[in-house]
Amino acid sequence: MGLKRTVSIIGTGSYVPEKVLTNHDLEEMVDTNDEWIFSRTGMRERHIAADDQATSDLGAEAAKKALADAGVKAEEVDLIIVATLSPDMFFPSTACFVQEKIGAKNAFCYDLGAACSGFLFALECGKNQILAGAAKTVLVIGAEKMSAFLDWEDRTTCVLFGDGAGAVVLQSRGDEHGVMDAVMGSDGSLADLLCTPGCGSRNPASPAVLEQRMQYITMQGRDVFKHAVSRMGKSVVLALEKNQVSIDDIKCFIPHQANSRIIDAIGRRLGISDRIYLDVAKYANTSSAAIAIALDEAVNEGVIQKGDLFVMTVFGGGFTWGANVVEWCK
Ligand code: UT7
Repeated sequence: MGLKRTVSIIGTGSYVPEKVLTNHDLEEMVDTNDEWIFSRTGMRERHIAADDQATSDLGAEAAKKALADAGVKAEEVDLIIVATLSPDMFFPSTACFVQEKIGAKNAFCYDLGAACSGFLFALECGKNQILAGAAKTVLVIGAEKMSAFLDWEDRTTCVLFGDGAGAVVLQSRGDEHGVMDAVMGSDGSLADLLCTPGCGSRNPASPAVLEQRMQYITMQGRDVFKHAVSRMGKSVVLALEKNQVSIDDIKCFIPHQANSRIIDAIGRRLGISDRIYLDVAKYANTSSAAIAIALDEAVNEGVIQKGDLFVMTVFGGGFTWGANVVEWCK
């Protein structure tokens, strides 16, 4: 019997724009305060893209770093998947813009929409393209310019999000495990709780739609919170079961960075509080970029080292959710 083909993350990269917006800065913009934001979310500041930076600009910066880290040339990439809910345009895909910016002229490119869960879903798609023999080198990117879709007059949402991007390069290198199986789920019956209702085909752009501010992200925070805790917690347990890995063998848990209280609740429920990677204070919720940025930082800080097993878990609009187990092989 031949060696089982596996897929590994062979490089990571991340990028956040220069401009920092602190909780104190937000106090000048809406009726909020640092104490409320920090105690309810764990957030202190977030990065905001410049006016001339689009999502693909952020994604391209992260991608270049991931390729350099992997020692792979852009021409070697044969698939780019960008997970985003804040694309440069409805079409062409943000992945095509990234391709042009990094010079990955041999790649085929598409975007994946799973809201904040997008990076994990895209990682699974990229892995399976390699396992199916359709691609050898895949660039998976989570990139968001959330600031372009926030209602800066709505304190219940605008304080929660930030801009940024994270990327990984995938290849099959015959490592023992690499990116192991994921569990993923969705529930479209709860779509209204977290969405951008306007300017799609349901409610096309019109003066009335703009006047009702439907072009911006809306969220029923309390309901989303409850589902996030429950779905991410269950996903972690199911992913461990699916891969026959004990929770004790996991070095690090990288959850979607939506709110430190959500993460604390999951940590307590699963008894893993001391092994959770948290950077929500610095970046706020960067949606599909969040776990990709956190992964890059965890690796660069030496929190994850060769041979370590770690778990990523996500939750987002749709609803969508999931978790996977990865062996770090670099
Ligand atoms: O990435 C996708 C997944 N997203 C999430 O998982 C986010 C999930 N939800 C949450 O993280 C939390 O629900 C929030 C952080 C959004 C809100 O925290 P909360 O503890 O659930 O607060 P709340 O919505 O129940 O609001 C409590 C109070 C309200 O005032 P009243 O009605 O009690 O008088 C809000 O109007 O806090 C008020 N409030 C604010 N006050 C100061 C809401 N936003 C703000 C604000 N500053 N920015």
